[in-house]
Amino acid sequence: MDHDQESGAGHLLLFPFLAQGHLIPFLNLAKRIDSLGQRAGSGGRRSLAITIVSTSRNVASLRRAVPAGSSIGFADLPFSPSDHGLPPDAEGADVIPLQAFPAFYFATESLRPPFEKLVSELAAREGCKNVCVLADIFLGWTAESASALGVQHRVFLTSGAYASAVTFSIWLCPPTFPRPANPDDEQALFDFPDVRLRYVQFLNMVVTEVRASNPMMLYLCRMLNLHFHHSGGLVINTSEEIEPKGLHLIGKLSGLPTFAVGPLIGGRTPSDTPPDGDVCIEFLDSKPPASVLYVSFGSQNTIPASQMMELARGLEASGRPFIWVVRAPVEFDGAEEFRAEWLPDGFEDRVAAAAQGVVVRQWAPQVAILAHASTGAFLSHCGWNSVLESLWHSVPVVSWPLMSDQLFDSRMLEELGVGVEVASGRMSGGLVKGWEHVRDVVETVLGDGEKARDMRQKAAELKELARAAVNADGEMKGSSVLAMERLLDSVFG
Ligand code: UDX
Repeated sequence: MDHDQESGAGHLLLFPFLAQGHLIPFLNLAKRIDSLGQRAGSGGRRSLAITIVSTSRNVASLRRAVPAGSSIGFADLPFSPSDHGLPPDAEGADVIPLQAFPAFYFATESLRPPFEKLVSELAAREGCKNVCVLADIFLGWTAESASALGVQHRVFLTSGAYASAVTFSIWLCPPTFPRPANPDDEQALFDFPDVRLRYVQFLNMVVTEVRASNPMMLYLCRMLNLHFHHSGGLVINTSEEIEPKGLHLIGKLSGLPTFAVGPLIGGRTPSDTPPDGDVCIEFLDSKPPASVLYVSFGSQNTIPASQMMELARGLEASGRPFIWVVRAPVEFDGAEEFRAEWLPDGFEDRVAAAAQGVVVRQWAPQVAILAHASTGAFLSHCGWNSVLESLWHSVPVVSWPLMSDQLFDSRMLEELGVGVEVASGRMSGGLVKGWEHVRDVVETVLGDGEKARDMRQKAAELKELARAAVNADGEMKGSSVLAMERLLDSVFG
């Protein structure tokens, strides 16, 4: 650990799950606490030490994304992916195929002994009451460790409140819970009878109906229960204004006090500067305001090869400019080199020659793209970070959720009036209806019709709400800043 913190001031150990969609919001949380701490520190109130805990490759990239002069420290824990049948460099979900996810999740529990050593040494040095673990929802064992070692614990939920409440309720519902015969029938949730979903969405969530014998489901449920039994609170990357209903539901389900401290949005991501980053910005610079569609399925998700073809044809037929971040289709290894045969013949050359589109491999500077005035819409899988980043920059969403929380984030965006779904789900049906449908939905969102105008108006309003929530200035302190203060008071008094 590279921290040399004054004893007794309070020390937060932030421990994200090993995936970009989790590392990024944890880094943003650390930066936010650090900046608020410095603010409060000038009035002499509080000066906290913050240490982000991860494995060595992740620590190295997170370190590069921390601003100079920041007091955020790092601790790396030994991790040997090959001991768990994973590629030796598999320190993040973005570099492993979807099929290897269960092995990867289980492998993260091997971090427990070195993590407990780290916590007990810190507690011995600084005092148990001055140490708090703030860990990812998928690392439920940290709550048990913290409880055994006598230090405090809070969970940080990097997904949305509404989607998490619905998702967790489905994971945890009794296997005997009756199901309709027809997947298109609606079903009330076990914990929230007033929330009704099509049963096909349950299928997209649990992957298999025989959950009792599904090791991944058992693992996830165990992680949730450990948090719900041992943790002292739930910190969520959302705001009271964006998700009042979601916050109520997740508080009820978990039984924990909730702290909505978001949106936490970052400038730079922990990944290296993408090689195609400049190409994207130059392309945007050459296009009119609000004209470009940005297409990405996040850091670890992707669509089937057949769907990639339909999407490509639909984008080309729309005639609208686009930037598309491509990853190997879901049937292939996520780290595999992208092959031209996964796109229609001559597609890339045609759209480049017409200055219609840029196809980027693997990673693009998403936040910079969404912040650019030429970006007019985002075709997204609706990972929660992508949702928040769109709201923050008032970019309407063409949603194509693939699994788990994404399905309910998409629903929420539609309810907020800033999203239109083009396809939904990967497990059971839900595939895009064809390239013509992609073309038509893109036109609905990027065109000049009433729907597009309404969405832009709503997006502008939500942007104001999102930014007001994190305003840290004097009399106008936002709800999320106040929640952060309550959180830190609840931990360190
Ligand atoms: C995962 C889950 O899939 C998602 O459902 C959950 O809500 C969070 O964890 P991920 O799929 O990676 O996340 O999506 P998302 O939450 O949107 O996070 C991706 C992050 O990586 C965003 O901050 C985005 O800005 C960044 N990113 C992604 C890039 O900067 N460039 C890219 O090319 C892709």
